[in-house]
Amino acid sequence: AVSAAALFAAASAVSAADDACSDDEMVIKFSHVVADQGHPKGDAARMLADRVNEELDGEACMEVFPNSTLFDDDKVLEALLLGDVQLAAPSLAKFEAYTLKYRLYDLPFLFSSLDAVERFTTSDAGKGMLTAMEDKGYMGLGYWSSGLKQFSANKPLILPTDAAGLKFRVQTSDVAVAMINALDASAQKLAFKEVYGALQTGVVDGQENTWSNIYTQKFFEVQDGITETNHQLLAYLLVTSTDWLDGLDPDFRDRFLTIVEEVTAEANASVAAKEQANRANIIDAGSEVRELSPEERQAWVDVMKPVWAEFENDIGADLIQAAVESNN
Ligand code: LMR
Repeated sequence: AVSAAALFAAASAVSAADDACSDDEMVIKFSHVVADQGHPKGDAARMLADRVNEELDGEACMEVFPNSTLFDDDKVLEALLLGDVQLAAPSLAKFEAYTLKYRLYDLPFLFSSLDAVERFTTSDAGKGMLTAMEDKGYMGLGYWSSGLKQFSANKPLILPTDAAGLKFRVQTSDVAVAMINALDASAQKLAFKEVYGALQTGVVDGQENTWSNIYTQKFFEVQDGITETNHQLLAYLLVTSTDWLDGLDPDFRDRFLTIVEEVTAEANASVAAKEQANRANIIDAGSEVRELSPEERQAWVDVMKPVWAEFENDIGADLIQAAVESNN
């Protein structure tokens, strides 16, 4: 066991290394949009920075910019190509301008659990998709899981008919738009940092996100409870530019990629627990979490799952089949 004092010493050493990016160290900037702590992505990004700053000290120095402080998800991909950042982890829903294959991950009710997600993303089919944007100058270094999504609105949602006529914020994903339209509701694409304000002022009535995002962004404060639909995956692609990766010294690159691989596995293993903790945090904060009966949940499946057919050609029936099989 590691003592609290040792942990504290390690933490101070890391922040000292952070502060002291020296001239002869390569700076690796990582920009993301979520909370710095208590969130699967925020925690994974810090874990990666801690390892890089400790193990590659003197060669590289990693700085993390959370909470959209450096770039939004719609700007960060350009920033990678311009060399303004070296790492990002936008959700897989946000790559439509570069590849349509990742629409797979947005199909409603595709994965039944985070274990199934892990089985698929570590399979040959899943790993093969990491290179889907190589021709556009991007390389996926790994999938960072974040959780399954839940619906909320300014009124209780029990059946899909409760959502009819409402406006929901969605990510920049046409699959999400189709899914919301299937509810006879309307979808509005908005940047993540705009969601709280849009819910508060009534620009949109509802949203869909993970327990961790709903808790750390405080969406529950401006919604009438959260409905436990587990209807869709939120996962990220840890992504870099092929130019940056190809330009690294091969030995350094190997050591860096080993750290990435280990952090990815460790972070993904703790996502389910973090999600449950944030679900409990929402309840502790006084918001209502509505559980659905199997029949009620099936009603959401029946309405939303038919959108798969619209996107099958973009993704490929073989990949959809492989993902479905990961549920077994
Ligand atoms: C969203 O826009 O809702 C998410 O992609 C934000 C995130 O990175 O979790």
